Amino acid sequence: MNLKKEKVRVGFIGLSGRGSGMLAELLKVDGVTVPAVCDKYEDRVREGVEIVQKATGTAPVKYLDYKELLTRDDVDAVCVCTTWITHARIAVDAMKAGKHVTFEVGGSASIDECWQMVRTSEETGKFCMLLENCCYNREEMALFNMVKQNLFGEIVHVQGGYQHDLRDEITLGRENRHGRLNNFMHRNGDVYPTHQLGPISKLLGINRRNRYLSLTSMASKARGLNVWIKEHKGTEYDLADYPFNQGDVVTTMIKCANGETVLLTHDCTLPRPYSRGYRIQGTKGIYMEDGFKIYVESIPNVVKVTEEHDWHDFKPIMEKYEHPLWKKYSVEGIHAGGHGGMDFLVLCAFVDAVREGGMPPIDVYDTATWMAITCLSEESIALGSQPVAVPDFTNGMWIDREPYRRGLYCLEEVCEDAFEKGKAL
Ligand SMILES: NC(=O)c1ccc[n+]([C@@H]2O[C@H](COP(=O)([O-])OP(=O)(O)OC[C@H]3O[C@@H](n4cnc5c(N)ncnc54)[C@H](O)[C@@H]3O)[C@@H](O)[C@H]2O)c1
Repeated sequence: MNLKKEKVRVGFIGLSGRGSGMLAELLKVDGVTVPAVCDKYEDRVREGVEIVQKATGTAPVKYLDYKELLTRDDVDAVCVCTTWITHARIAVDAMKAGKHVTFEVGGSASIDECWQMVRTSEETGKFCMLLENCCYNREEMALFNMVKQNLFGEIVHVQGGYQHDLRDEITLGRENRHGRLNNFMHRNGDVYPTHQLGPISKLLGINRRNRYLSLTSMASKARGLNVWIKEHKGTEYDLADYPFNQGDVVTTMIKCANGETVLLTHDCTLPRPYSRGYRIQGTKGIYMEDGFKIYVESIPNVVKVTEEHDWHDFKPIMEKYEHPLWKKYSVEGIHAGGHGGMDFLVLCAFVDAVREGGMPPIDVYDTATWMAITCLSEESIALGSQPVAVPDFTNGMWIDREPYRRGLYCLEEVCEDAFEKGKAL
């Protein structure tokens, strides 16, 4: 990596499955040190200490209360991998304590907590970055490059979602001290919108000359968890007939100021293979993740116009339009850690933003907007799929924002010049 080598000192909060994996990834980013780790559970915080000690030879200080960690002077920023309903409040406390903050994905519980993040970031000058790794996935980045080169023409409609059979992980939440179960028992909405909404929002220029105006959501009945529980835990298991609130398939339609529509799906409690179901449709072509297919009217020397409107295999076309970030890391021997490399890249983007003193590629306005879709979809469902307005967290600035920071990890444009050897932006 070509990141400058100044030390970045990160406090780490939340050390369950995801947190411990991300902590190990973070320690592979050049120049990162982790002086302190925290979890509510003693055994998990001990595991965090071991991860840091194994990677660096130095044991971090451990905390059971994150507020104590935030008082440390030797922490520049914090990385939070706790639960959906704790991320925003920890982020606000971190910014108030003078730390930049990044935190794992999940939706928001209320519009108020989104505004709290925005206002605290504006008041403190500390950034608040959602750690949306899918923005750095190889396919998503190549597609972003293709869209910027106008291969799909003007974008009209985009689809995506989180379609992941998590019946065991959700159901066994109490046994495994895992956060999802309570959400599925009590809530009903798109509780996990950002994996595809992140890349979609960057593609559509949301919060920069475009914005989400309104949405409407609909939830199917909830049957998947009960069927799974009866088959795997038996009919005597206390949740066997529990009336889960969360519908098996939640569908949300969002309308953009520039006229595009976005179709989001949340589908985690029925049997199915994993897919984010990404689909991009413009005036010159279409991409479909399911089957990795593409149809574009023409790509010089790659795709010929046919009368039959045949699908093409996306993989060779993706290689031709590889994003320079992925080219760079392929050449430099990308450390193919979590989720094929995107976890590492999003952590690099976070560290780069701390080092450069702010302006992360996913800023507090993106974070608030993407997370808000959860509580807005809950509201729409509760009101019989009534359309609800999406707040403008930029307070009007979306029509004329300050310039973004260009560079290797930029998600607004492909900064080819940043990758030229020896050229610093
Ligand atoms: N980006 C991805 O690809 C990806 C993958 C998996 C999970 N995640 C996200 O990562 C987050 C964590 O996932 P997980 O599966 O590890 O969840 P989990 O529920 O198993 O773990 C959450 C951890 O946070 C700790 N915690 C909660 N509140 C705390 C507090 N106030 N102070 C200190 N510690 C606290 C808990 O003790 C627990 O150890 C979730 O938001 C999840 O959606 C993202």
